[in-house]
Amino acid sequence: MRMSSLAENDVCGTRENESCQTRDGDPSVIQEGKAEILIPESKNVFYNPVQEFNRDLSIAALTVLAKEHFQKLEEKKIEEVSNKTEMSNEIGGEVHKDGIVIIEALSATGLRSIRYAKEISGVKQVIANDISETAVKSIKENVTFNEVDSLVTVSHDDAVMLMYAHRHPSKRVHAVDLDPYGCPTQFLDAAVQCVTDGGLLLVTCTDMAVLAGNAPETCHAKYGAISLRTKACHEMGLRIILQCIETHANRYGRYIVPMLSVSADFYIRVFVKIYSGAAMCKRSTSKLSLVFQCVGCETHVFHPLGVAHKFGEKVNQYKFSLPHAPVNGVCEHCGQKFHIGGPIWNGPLHDESFVSELISITDPERFRTARRMEGVLTVIQEELPDVPLYYSVDKLFSTIRCEIMSMMLFRSALLNAGYRVSLSHASKYSIKTDAPANVVWDVVRTWQLSHPVKTERLSNAGSAILAKSPTTVVSLEKHPDANPNSRQMGLVRFQENPRPFWGPGTRAKTNFQDQKMEKSIRNQGKHSKKQRKRSRSHSKSPEIRKKNMTENISNSSDNNNLSEKDTEMKEDK
Ligand SMILES: C[S@@+](CC[C@H](N)C(=O)[O-])C[C@H]1O[C@@H](n2cnc3c(N)ncnc32)[C@H](O)[C@@H]1O
Ligand SMILES: [Zn+2]
Repeated sequence: MRMSSLAENDVCGTRENESCQTRDGDPSVIQEGKAEILIPESKNVFYNPVQEFNRDLSIAALTVLAKEHFQKLEEKKIEEVSNKTEMSNEIGGEVHKDGIVIIEALSATGLRSIRYAKEISGVKQVIANDISETAVKSIKENVTFNEVDSLVTVSHDDAVMLMYAHRHPSKRVHAVDLDPYGCPTQFLDAAVQCVTDGGLLLVTCTDMAVLAGNAPETCHAKYGAISLRTKACHEMGLRIILQCIETHANRYGRYIVPMLSVSADFYIRVFVKIYSGAAMCKRSTSKLSLVFQCVGCETHVFHPLGVAHKFGEKVNQYKFSLPHAPVNGVCEHCGQKFHIGGPIWNGPLHDESFVSELISITDPERFRTARRMEGVLTVIQEELPDVPLYYSVDKLFSTIRCEIMSMMLFRSALLNAGYRVSLSHASKYSIKTDAPANVVWDVVRTWQLSHPVKTERLSNAGSAILAKSPTTVVSLEKHPDANPNSRQMGLVRFQENPRPFWGPGTRAKTNFQDQKMEKSIRNQGKHSKKQRKRSRSHSKSPEIRKKNMTENISNSSDNNNLSEKDTEMKEDK
């Protein structure tokens, strides 16, 4: 087998300056965690080193799942006064006959599956599947190279067919990992059926432009929800995929409980547990909301699809009703009309104890991205669990054309007024709060009394907001709780500046039984004109390409790509 060097072979969708770690003295082997991946001869197998954070997080999540699995087994055995079932090692790499079974439905090089096998204790079997013949060849080589043949079963199938083969309750698996190119929704119907009760479904979406409001019609076609152009687009994306998984699960009398929902780099990743229960499915309407977004000031108003009223002592004693429309046609703050987006998931994005468990196993000896994991998970731990979406401080002040207020002061003003406040891990300039929108606008109005507004460029919405006097007494004194622990601890809370060629990576030329995918045949030569045009207007400098890609992905609206230093400057103002 000929191995080509990394520099000449663009398997990562990246060339120089990327973080592919090749094994010491051997450029034909990529090392990530405990896995060593042979660099394939052709470009037909996908590998993206930027997703190491995604893989590290997934290993941590599955480690927690395996631990819970063995705890449950032990409880059962204690009840049955039988032998104890124990995890015999702490580090993975061994077959546990009572362990968890994981399907990696879209495996590419097999890297993820091999890491699951070698780095998670308590695994019985990992099924590494791909539709591409070339990918399957690469998985087989890598599985043997890593000596995990007893743990990893290689499968060459359409992911959907593989998962349908596991949908009978006796054949269900403990975890399913979906890490597709772009949108995962075509795999969800099968995935929600083949996970055991209490098992974990891990889903990545990299089609952020669709989820972030650039193509609401496409978003509806794919996810069954309208996306909106909003500063909170990354969290909105998380809530759209969660509602999509929930509605797929509901069709089979099943429902989701989100454990962790992460917006990172150019993608989102959700970790949800799946359970069965028709009564809980009826509560889904109260966990999904339409989102009314003011076109003038971007204030959000949520309209749940249903209301569940608890009565009686028993767990599932609920009555249901339909809610009345939440808005009267125009925005009460600025008088403009609304766009309607969603439905989105309106419940918690994370499970508190699951996140604490993850933080407790985030060890730099184990994960190369541990610092980032700890930072992001700590911000997630601080997020208000019951407040969907967030305000963006820069958007609030750009609406009234006024100098921006520091994050610290804004948080202080809301805390001083008696409300709760937090950041969202999805944006540096986010404010999550249970304060009503008129209180948030009163903070803005109070600030502008001592800071000049550029009235000549003020929009109708901005003028209408400033025409009202504040009704809340706003104190701009610094509040002791306004500085979150994650910030005081100096953690890596947000994504650092992207490296050149950062992005979802290049799609491998997927072949199945040596047939080129239909679409690629249809599109042959179609893009060359476009590309020529683009290359005239785009510089070839990696910095500019990186900037363009970043702007596209983040909907030209978020500030996630500013460095931590920039935020600190704003915060310390
Ligand atoms: C983004 S890559 C997966 C990357 C991998 N999970 C990792 O962490 O490196 C997507 C893979 O899905 C495969 N794929 C696409 N459609 C598929 C299908 N219907 N069934 C199985 N595999 C499929 C592609 O061949 C490709 O290898
Ligand atoms: Zn408005």
